Amino acid sequence: MKNISKNGFPENFDWGAAFASYQVSGCKNSNWSDWEHSEKRKNDLEESGELKKHSLSNFLCGDACKHDKRFVSDFNLVKKLGHNSLRTGSEPGKIMPKKGVIDKKEIARIVKMVKHLNKLGIKIYWNLWHWTIPTWWQEEGGWESPHAIEYFTLYTNAVVNALAPLGVTHWITLNETNVFGKLSYEYGAWPPQLSDHARYEVVNDALVQAHIAAYKIIKKVCPQSFVGVAHALGHNEMTEATAEQREWKEKEDEAWSRHFLEKIKDYQDFVGINHYRGSLFGGRPVTITNDLDWDMYPRAIYDTIMDVWKWYGKPIVITENGCADDEDSRRPWFLWETLKWIQKAIEDGVPVLGYLHWSLMDNFEWAYGFWPRFGLIEIDRENNLKRIPRKSAYLYRDIIRYGLTDKVAKKYSDIIAYPQNKKIV
Ligand code: BGC
Repeated sequence: MKNISKNGFPENFDWGAAFASYQVSGCKNSNWSDWEHSEKRKNDLEESGELKKHSLSNFLCGDACKHDKRFVSDFNLVKKLGHNSLRTGSEPGKIMPKKGVIDKKEIARIVKMVKHLNKLGIKIYWNLWHWTIPTWWQEEGGWESPHAIEYFTLYTNAVVNALAPLGVTHWITLNETNVFGKLSYEYGAWPPQLSDHARYEVVNDALVQAHIAAYKIIKKVCPQSFVGVAHALGHNEMTEATAEQREWKEKEDEAWSRHFLEKIKDYQDFVGINHYRGSLFGGRPVTITNDLDWDMYPRAIYDTIMDVWKWYGKPIVITENGCADDEDSRRPWFLWETLKWIQKAIEDGVPVLGYLHWSLMDNFEWAYGFWPRFGLIEIDRENNLKRIPRKSAYLYRDIIRYGLTDKVAKKYSDIIAYPQNKKIV
């Protein structure tokens, strides 16, 4: 490895966290907010028993953590926690409140955000779309509308022309088109709750076009930019190289990982990996799970990186990785082990350029609502949304400073040990 800094990772490695505008600030003018407030959603929550476990307010995003209003102190905290990078983004429903209209005030606000990050010397990965679109656009059919690309182009032009001149070079056009497509159009779980493969394909194609259009706009405005998507990727692991398992892996890789990525492969400078878990042929027998019962298997990030590198040969950024862990009892271990595997991938020759932990702060976890806690920073919802960094945040700060060293391991030995809550899943 060349140019290694004292923390054992490459110099210029991007260290930070990620969040999505909707999840920390909300947006009334959006398909998600409309869905949350619909009668159908309320009835479904009642019928499924969710309202016995959580109050209705858990499922209503509102203005979430009010990050829009508190971004100055939030960014100052990011700096204090030692991050040099941040993945944040804009909200289509705020930038385009009405059809064909760009809100200058909202543009001015995101300009202020970027200027403050610039002042702090924090590198930005700007995310354009993280699942939400304005109400008026959804009413026209959302991504199935024949005008979808036109609307996305208008929005992208406005944001890119405002932020690129301020030095924003790193862009994520679309977040997890795979999760969005499957859950919203095939599994009937997320708005607009459809189970229709043909319509899923229409939406997938529209998102391919949207990405390519945005890629071209960004390159035109800022030729030295670095553009990619953030995609939900996990390793599909075989236990034996049998024909049956090979077939399983190929099918899973295609359906989840490559279906979209293959179509945009000539229009990406990096691949953004959002990684939470891997899957093992036949299921993983014993594992540690997070509060959502997702298995925690740090090695899977290494194998995922290797798959993606083999498929596309492009630099990689970990654009999301983390866990729901209210007590912060497993996150430190998970973070430590995950970073070890990323370091190994780098040592094995893969250009992994950065790690952006999900999430900076506890936020609105989509259909689950507020209860799953993914933040390096706890949000105290009973106490005026007070920001309280968890122990993991300090561990992460010290890893960024010193690396995965014995000294850091010793300092945090009580929290990075292998968690005891093993569970059969
Ligand atoms: C999404 C995030 C989400 C996270 C954890 C990812 O699929 O991009 O928005 O909060 O998973 O659920």
